[in-house]
Amino acid sequence: MPESRRLEIIAIAKKYDVLIVEDSPYREIRFEGKAQKTIYELDNSGQVILLGTFSKIFVPGFRIGWVIAHEKIVDKFVTAKQSTDLCTPTLNQKIAHKYIEKGYFDENLKGIIEQYHKKRDNMINAFKEYMPEGVKWTEPEGGLFLFLTLPENMDAEILFKKAIEKNVAFVLGSVFHCNGSGKNTMRINFSYMPMDKTTEGVKRLAEVIKEEM
Ligand SMILES: Cc1ncc(COP(=O)(O)O)c(C=O)c1O
Repeated sequence: MPESRRLEIIAIAKKYDVLIVEDSPYREIRFEGKAQKTIYELDNSGQVILLGTFSKIFVPGFRIGWVIAHEKIVDKFVTAKQSTDLCTPTLNQKIAHKYIEKGYFDENLKGIIEQYHKKRDNMINAFKEYMPEGVKWTEPEGGLFLFLTLPENMDAEILFKKAIEKNVAFVLGSVFHCNGSGKNTMRINFSYMPMDKTTEGVKRLAEVIKEEM
């Protein structure tokens, strides 16, 4: 989302006096390009709550994340957290703390970025090789996913059922749209599977798309 759009969103939130939750779990995983300023950084009125997580950059199972927001809002988070499960496991927090303190975190992050960068390129190469004409995709500068767009008249939900039969899954792109559009889109993960399986998965998905075309 370009900075101009971010500023527009802040202006709307101010006009209607609503808070913005900026959920940013993939920010640290950047392969290339320049990071945008967060909406939190662009705002100067305490309107934005910025969320982060160690799930994608350390260990998912530790269930540790963070909230950066105005002091009054953070106080409310503390109360809410205490009334749900008292607190995030202290031992996990201490382990994460030591891990960062000893410099392992930065080293590991470099490794994650390097690996996911290769996996992104691998998936894009597979798309170039197998996808039929008319299918388009993003080449994200970071994160774990890319977005695929099929020709306008195609329905990703129909493809989903057929892809599942071939053991390939994706997330329907329509769930990332708020106005019923995006039926011809999919979100695809490139970070999880080993590269050879990704290539095979793309090949199978391309076959399903070609059949449907
Ligand atoms: C957009 C988004 N926000 C937040 C999270 C939550 O991460 P966690 O609850 O593991 O910290 C995820 C995890 O998949 C995510 O995709």
